[in-house]
Amino acid sequence: MTSPARFDITGITLREYRSIARCTVRLRPLNLLVGPNGSGKSNFVDSLRFVSQSLNENLDNALRDRGGVSEVRRRSTGHPRHFGIGLTFRCADFSGEYHFRVGAAKGGDYRVTHESCRVAWHDGRPDSFFNVAGGEVLEASVQVAPRALDDRLYLVAMSGLEPFRPVFDGLTGMNVYNVNPESMREPQKPDPGELLRRDGANVASVLEAMRRANPARKLVVEEFLQRIVPGIVSVDRKAVGAWESLDFRQEVAGADAPWQFQASSISDGTMRALGVLVALFAVDDGSPFASPVAIEEPETALHPAAAGYLLDALQEASHTRQVIATTHSPELLDSPELDPRSLISVRA
Ligand SMILES: Nc1ncnc2c1ncn2[C@@H]1O[C@H](COP(=O)(O)OP(=O)(O)O)[C@@H](O)[C@H]1O
Ligand SMILES: [Mg+2]
Repeated sequence: MTSPARFDITGITLREYRSIARCTVRLRPLNLLVGPNGSGKSNFVDSLRFVSQSLNENLDNALRDRGGVSEVRRRSTGHPRHFGIGLTFRCADFSGEYHFRVGAAKGGDYRVTHESCRVAWHDGRPDSFFNVAGGEVLEASVQVAPRALDDRLYLVAMSGLEPFRPVFDGLTGMNVYNVNPESMREPQKPDPGELLRRDGANVASVLEAMRRANPARKLVVEEFLQRIVPGIVSVDRKAVGAWESLDFRQEVAGADAPWQFQASSISDGTMRALGVLVALFAVDDGSPFASPVAIEEPETALHPAAAGYLLDALQEASHTRQVIATTHSPELLDSPELDPRSLISVRA
């Protein structure tokens, strides 16, 4: 089985995005974002979700999900009318950049004012590119360029053409997680389990898909979970009528065999750790790329002593795909194993 190739974001440039006036940040295989509450860590990683959601669904949904364009562009006395996101990316076969700017119009309306993409192929083929402004295609490397519309991203239309498809796939594969133990405990409708949902709600399906397609990967999840939560032996999907849930096996002092626990009896910390590990290690073998994964505060509800194991998990996962985490954990940050270049300090 061939694993998907990694697709990394090498840099992010933001302009007037939510609380962030402007920033340019270079990213590494593993990135830990630290800073006070309200400093913009979540807004920063949300920019990646904004891009993947705008391409996967559409710009309208991405804006509406965040309260509309007036909530997405930075509010300030100067009233900027535009916000912009720019990404540089790299994978084995190509590298490049993708930028767009969105302007607020009257009545909560918006327009894509600029959008550009350039792909440099590592095999020496000429670059693929397009440059769009105000719904007009200014230049493009393809013979027949689709029409541009100023209320949606042009890369969606261009993804139908071979040179832009890999960029589209890499960017739409980015995921930002904020796992929620409550959602993970709820009985779940079975789904194909290719992709963990943002809050972890379909974790049972994803674990089951892992068990079938790549048991070794599920073992990695279970081994890290054992280290973070001593006593856990395994976790599996359990059918509950037409629904599904989780079945944990945990060693209990004095018992000969591990005891079985259902999701409702499992602590928040354990549940969150499971969600974080599945987010880190579940790879959709059907997709061409292993795209970046961002995780909000993975240490929440964990014992500080578990931070070292959590860092090991983040580091291990970053060998397969890029990892970005926001964190408040001094234990995570103080770990001697952490390469200081992985730290990104965020200030409002
Ligand atoms: N459109 C916006 N303009 C200005 N500030 C914003 C906008 N949207 C959110 N914010 C501010 O961003 C802050 C939250 O940033 P966030 O990224 O969640 O912080 P944290 O670093 O704690 O994750 C809030 O204080 C909020 O006021
Ligand atoms: Mg936050």
